[in-house]
Amino acid sequence: MNILLLGSGGREHALAWKMALSEKLGSLFIAPGNAGTLEYGENINISPTDFEAVKKFVLENEINMVVVGPEEPLVKGIHDFFLADEKLKNISVIGPKKDGAQLEGSKDFSKQFMMKYYIPTAKYKTFTKETISDAFAFLQTLSPPYVLKADGLASGKGVVIPHTIEEAKKELEEMLLNERFGNASEKVVIEEFLTGIEVSVFVLTDGKNYKILPAAKDYKRIGEGDTGLNTGGMGAVSPVPFADSTFMIKVEEEIIKPTIIGLQTENITYKGFIFFGIINVGGEPFLIEYNCRMGDPESEVVFPRIKSDILDLFEGVATQTLGKKKIDIDKQTAVTVMLVSGGYPGDYEKGKIISGLDLIEDSIPFHAGTTEKDEKIITNGGRVIAVTSYGKTIEEALKKSFANAEKINYEGKYYRKDIGKDLI
Ligand code: AMP
Ligand code: GLY
Repeated sequence: MNILLLGSGGREHALAWKMALSEKLGSLFIAPGNAGTLEYGENINISPTDFEAVKKFVLENEINMVVVGPEEPLVKGIHDFFLADEKLKNISVIGPKKDGAQLEGSKDFSKQFMMKYYIPTAKYKTFTKETISDAFAFLQTLSPPYVLKADGLASGKGVVIPHTIEEAKKELEEMLLNERFGNASEKVVIEEFLTGIEVSVFVLTDGKNYKILPAAKDYKRIGEGDTGLNTGGMGAVSPVPFADSTFMIKVEEEIIKPTIIGLQTENITYKGFIFFGIINVGGEPFLIEYNCRMGDPESEVVFPRIKSDILDLFEGVATQTLGKKKIDIDKQTAVTVMLVSGGYPGDYEKGKIISGLDLIEDSIPFHAGTTEKDEKIITNGGRVIAVTSYGKTIEEALKKSFANAEKINYEGKYYRKDIGKDLI
């Protein structure tokens, strides 16, 4: 099978690494990829949202399957684009159509879906600029902190959690009246704040059957002890001790199954990953959000724990025979520690030479924001390299990742030294 993988982060490096372990892989191309994906295939300078360029490349290179990493091409309808084209319609796309991608592309849609299918979630209401006074009144019925969510995609920045009602009102005005997130905040979801620990749960589905992948915990804040600004994710651990079988049975019965049945009822044939952002409130799972893709950095611990052939599973998705496939999960723990650029998630510089990658032992350095220039690997983003390790315990795996994180060097390197500590 010749594969085109769309995306350029740590998630895509982990996917490329995993696909390269499959005997079914023919040629692998990654658009645009990073310095890490180069090891497994050819990087192509095409933007994942330039559908015409993707089409041309797919036809010229006899691609059989397109695996979509990030949400943007899915929300913009890349899968629909393939289905609507005579020459592309028989090429498999791993990732939902526009209808399914709305689970991530519209917070209002996803909340309505959760309510309709009785999926436990925070109570909420949706407002527009016409109904801003009702929004102020709704805020009065809630206790602080307040959760405001821009309806559309906002590069992961669309959720704001003000601690006072004054701040909440001001923020709401910014979002609804001053287009703080452009079109994405034309509608705003206001919801009740839930207190608990979060866990990311992943499912691969062909629209009929599904396989539950390993769960992972992500560390979102830049600072140790979960302080400071939100990032794309500073590290991850899988499995997650509190997401034990009792908890996961609740997740499957109350959240996963109603989602799959709901999608079928809505006539949405969903082929791809579903990311369930779940919060454990006193032992009960509540769904915070859906994403229509894998998580990052969760992918850097989830794919390493899948023993089965990922391309065999993807074929199952494409041909709707996933129910006949088996998925084997590695019992070991996997952790990843994200090395970032100095200043991230604020302003940071790119182009710093990365050294020490050749010194890594017993860990996998998944590249995120890296590129190759003049035969040197340089930084090319905020999140730079995710150092993944296996271990019998979280401690054992972390020890390897931290030791190797020390060996990698570039100007401004920073990483959190407390990843996983809360779970030990
Ligand atoms: P989202 O983009 O929906 O994942 O929201 C980003 C982050 O905001 C989540 O990962 C949570 O940490 C937090 N969050 C979102 N909704 C809630 C909620 N209802 N209660 C508490 N925290 C929330
Ligand atoms: N790590 C969270 C995400 O991928 O959205």
